[in-house]
Amino acid sequence: MDATRIVLVTGSAGNVGSTVFAGLKPHFALRAFDRVPTLGANDAHVGDLADRAAVERAVAGVHTIIHFGGCPRMEAEFIRDLLKPNIEGLWHMLDVARLAGVKRFIFASSCNVAFGATELAQLRTDTVHAFNPYGATKAFGETIGRWFFDTYGMEFLAVRIGYFRGIYVDPDLREDWLRRIWLGPRDCVKFFRLAIEAPRFGYGIVYACSRCPENYLDLTSARTLLGYEPEEDVPPAPPVQGTS
Ligand SMILES: NC(=O)c1ccc[n+]([C@@H]2O[C@H](COP(=O)([O-])OP(=O)(O)OC[C@H]3O[C@@H](n4cnc5c(N)ncnc54)[C@H](O)[C@@H]3O)[C@@H](O)[C@H]2O)c1
Repeated sequence: MDATRIVLVTGSAGNVGSTVFAGLKPHFALRAFDRVPTLGANDAHVGDLADRAAVERAVAGVHTIIHFGGCPRMEAEFIRDLLKPNIEGLWHMLDVARLAGVKRFIFASSCNVAFGATELAQLRTDTVHAFNPYGATKAFGETIGRWFFDTYGMEFLAVRIGYFRGIYVDPDLREDWLRRIWLGPRDCVKFFRLAIEAPRFGYGIVYACSRCPENYLDLTSARTLLGYEPEEDVPPAPPVQGTS
């Protein structure tokens, strides 16, 4: 472990963030940032993404950021739920990061950037068709990240995460559309470890999912940029109660 290369994980107390934080902890010098405390974090900051001073304290001395913090809900309302964390908070993270000399910014994007393209059999990384305002905030993140890379040279990776719950027995996996984008816990940790360690790629957009039916999410760029190969298969859907 290189203790001088601090990796900041925002949203570290959340669903994806806590799994990735625990999985990466043996391998990197990690720092946590969330508005609620992060279990198991020695170097932890509690603060709000929209509080610039709190973001500055969290980002100081950091080499790489994995940005999970924000509102993850597909049905979220723009002004009430999304504007502060997903737009203003993201701006603070990016702007503070480039001022602090952060080398790589890994952004938790979403398939909701592209789900609007219902006519496509496969979503590609150049598919941009927001399914909802939440997806539009992620499209903004991908675009403003490109501008930060072009302008300041800070590497930016948009990870369009599939469906992650961190569990293997999940009644929601009866839904075919979730089975097509499932990301397992082990593949998830592996994915973000590769994103930290990959040789310089500049700017990129990748999908993150496990071995899913129909190859609905195009993993070509994840393979090319990160060397990612999924190892987990979507678990069987649990039977509906009362059926054999
Ligand atoms: N879980 C998925 O299936 C999925 C899929 C695609 C993308 N994503 C993205 O991954 C990220 C994490 O998703 P999740 O499912 O873990 O969500 P989550 O709600 O479990 O975690 C988000 C974390 O961010 C923190 N947070 C929210 N607003 C904040 C603020 N203003 N200041 C500081 N911290 C704040 C929350 O406290 C929480 O711990 C999100 O950006 C989400 O959009 C998740």
